[in-house]
Amino acid sequence: MSVSESKPGKLDPRLFGDGPKRDERFDVREVWVDLVNFPDDHPQKQLEFLHRQMNEEACVMENAARSLAEFTDADWSVRKGLARQCADEARHLMNYRRLLERRGGHVGQFPVMTFQYRILGRIDNLLGRLSVQNRSFEAVGLDATAHALQEARDSGDAALAGIYEAQLADEIGHIRYANDYIRRKLAASPRVGMQIAAALDQAARAFEQVFAGGGEDVEKYGVDVEGRLEAGFSAVEVDVAARMSEERRARVRERLARGNLHQ
Ligand SMILES: [Fe+2]
Ligand SMILES: [Fe+2]
Repeated sequence: MSVSESKPGKLDPRLFGDGPKRDERFDVREVWVDLVNFPDDHPQKQLEFLHRQMNEEACVMENAARSLAEFTDADWSVRKGLARQCADEARHLMNYRRLLERRGGHVGQFPVMTFQYRILGRIDNLLGRLSVQNRSFEAVGLDATAHALQEARDSGDAALAGIYEAQLADEIGHIRYANDYIRRKLAASPRVGMQIAAALDQAARAFEQVFAGGGEDVEKYGVDVEGRLEAGFSAVEVDVAARMSEERRARVRERLARGNLHQ
């Protein structure tokens, strides 16, 4: 089996490490505009979505595995959380793959990105990585999954709803163990807040590069308040996240409306 590795090119190498290994079936792109972004009503939209999710689960699994291997001195409780997360993400990956194939798709059918892995590769401390991966990326993933679960139920897609239900419970656990760990560390030494802030700022700049050109124009759903509270965010944190999400969605709606007027 030949093995390819995505190399930095279009993205700032100070913000992105090397990609994870992928075999020859995969066509790895660096930025969102280079993916196949079907409109909602396209017949292949769902297959592409299942394929994209399958790959994202792989990246999150690889991130948890890498942190487990690199931070061997971390507390037992957080290492246990990382180990459990590896198993959970592997299961999510297989669930998406199974459904993708059952519905006529195949691995490698669409291009993918490995930005989550590459962004974390430039964060050299566990607190920063958990803040970005678990507390930010996965929290947004939680909002998306809660919304998608409702959509799948409404459309009578029981197989997809089943995947989301199982995934939602796991993702809440992933965010929760990271929140617990970060809170403990902050209580012991408030200065680690600097590490967290630096990691979040770096990741936000990297994210902007990946999704430039419309990748962040999602306004269909807001914050899953109940899920986030269960995942260990405080009421104030959830409130702030909800407000920021509302403001962002309003900006997107305004931009989209302006775009439509100009057509
Ligand atoms: Fe997952
Ligand atoms: Fe997760």
